[in-house]
Amino acid sequence: MDGVLRQGEACLDILKQEDAEMGVERSFIILKPSCLKRGLVGEIISRFEKKGLKILQLKIAKLPREKVEELYQQHLGKPFYDELVSFMTSDRVVLMVVEGRDAIGVVRRMIGATDPAEASPGTIRGDLALDKTDNLIHACDSPESYEREVRIFFDEKELCPDT
Ligand code: CMP
Repeated sequence: MDGVLRQGEACLDILKQEDAEMGVERSFIILKPSCLKRGLVGEIISRFEKKGLKILQLKIAKLPREKVEELYQQHLGKPFYDELVSFMTSDRVVLMVVEGRDAIGVVRRMIGATDPAEASPGTIRGDLALDKTDNLIHACDSPESYEREVRIFFDEKELCPDT
């Protein structure tokens, strides 16, 4: 088991080194429960694929409360926290890792402002959402948040799908 984990970690490190040289990075994305309910998964994934982002990993899961609380730990105590955690645990979500040049910034620009009422037309939230909690999609906002968030939902082996 140790050997497998070490192999996974080494793989991730090698990828990071190559990615840094090429300007390639990874982004972590959650399609919130309404995406499956409203049949919007294909439309949203299609936008990322057409942009040129590569889907490195993708799975459907009903998230346990502890993982959602870990994801949103910086929002603990805020007025919207309880509603957000309830919503994110209410039904299945799609978890994704995508890869490409400046992937974190590209994905954030494609999804638009947190409040869909203020998100620009042409963005995913601007075109397809209106509610602030149910704003369809979550994405990491920095390399640091990518590293923290992706490890809550994916193990090392899943992040090295070609090995
Ligand atoms: P997300 O990108 O998932 O990160 C935190 C989430 O909190 C955010 O999207 C919104 O769905 C939700 N949220 C609800 N109200 C607010 C608010 N006033 N400010 C920021 N986030 C909010």
